[in-house]
Amino acid sequence: MSILSGKNILLGITGGIAAYKTASLVRLFVKSGANVKVVMTPASKEFVTPLTLSTLSKNPVYSSFTNEDEDTAVWNSHVDLGLWADFLVVAPATANTLSKMANGVCDNLLLATYLSAKCPVYYAPAMDLDMYKHPTTAQSFEKLNDFNNIMIPATSGELASGLVGEGRMAEPEDIISFIENDILGKLPLRGKKILITAGPTYEAIDPVRFIGNHSSGKMGFEIAKEAANLGAEVILVTGPTSQTVSHSLIKVIPVVSGQDMYNAVHDHFQSADVAILSAAVADYKPKEVAVEKIKKNSTSLTLELEKTKDILASIGSIKKQQYLVGFALETQDELENAKGKLKRKNLNLIVLNSLNDKGAGFKGDTNKVTFIDDENKITAFELKSKAEVASDLLNKIISHI
Ligand code: CTP
Repeated sequence: MSILSGKNILLGITGGIAAYKTASLVRLFVKSGANVKVVMTPASKEFVTPLTLSTLSKNPVYSSFTNEDEDTAVWNSHVDLGLWADFLVVAPATANTLSKMANGVCDNLLLATYLSAKCPVYYAPAMDLDMYKHPTTAQSFEKLNDFNNIMIPATSGELASGLVGEGRMAEPEDIISFIENDILGKLPLRGKKILITAGPTYEAIDPVRFIGNHSSGKMGFEIAKEAANLGAEVILVTGPTSQTVSHSLIKVIPVVSGQDMYNAVHDHFQSADVAILSAAVADYKPKEVAVEKIKKNSTSLTLELEKTKDILASIGSIKKQQYLVGFALETQDELENAKGKLKRKNLNLIVLNSLNDKGAGFKGDTNKVTFIDDENKITAFELKSKAEVASDLLNKIISHI
């Protein structure tokens, strides 16, 4: 999944021959899962039609402050467009528009939108080589750089004039990867590897039966998604669950038993920067696993159980620089028990779920948690969605690593 998935991209098109390439650019943005709206300068409509772009973007195309085709005039609000956008991409960006952007000129809808947008702005210059080299263009670039607008550099090659040199708009594929890399590079967890466990474990009794629990895996999956959205490379070791995730930064390792989970966690822990163990690992497993299905021959059956390995404690005892997070589910003396676990398992942070709180715990979509860290800082949260709890947790981790 692209980092652009679900993002609102406002594409500003200006009047250069490279405008014809914006049809593929819109198609690629849409393919990457982004929502696309297009604002055109009047001159750009000579090079590519609004109908092409509205068809590809599946949205109306804006080019003037009012909608001339309507009987009753409709105001196209540049402020609303600017607020809607997660990113404004001006491509192609002509020397004329760049100069206007650099100097606060506001004589069309695109420029008004640019001036009111608070989101990051990318621009892909496209012009003839002499214009590209002209000192006024260099000045525009400098000013736009001071405004934190991001240039997607033009490339060298044959230009529409027949001249060969710098000034060709970057190809649509390159514009997309430039933006993706720029966004990824700025994410706070970029370059960090996060190991996460999720879901229940199943401990075999015989070939068809097991001891398990009701953990849905939702909490761990939400943490994995949020961590990947913040740029981390995620290893998600999960017990049997109906949860699914598809993200280029998440590698899912499905396991069944606590021993499988233990092995997978130890395979990846040394190279991890952060480990968050949210799985509900069975505490006990049958001492012997019957080779054949157990028949109901007697009126009662006694299973002898033995303790499983404590995965969290085992990595706590070998941890070096890693930031280690565990979960605790308590029903009494909650804070004291959780603090004890934090110390015993050598954790940096423990997330306490209290079963006494309505809406908290295993199965639902919400959770009510308290963070206790290794400096004894205690933060209690309201009832929140598991996605929000994941976000709180990762913000806490980011502030520490
Ligand atoms: N955990 C683990 N391996 C186990 C058991 C637990 O990694 N075999 C982890 C869980 O993923 C969780 C934390 O340890 O992060 C929970 O600790 P645990 O001691 O099991 O606490 P509770 O489940 O609350 O159980 P109890 O209080 O009965 O010890």
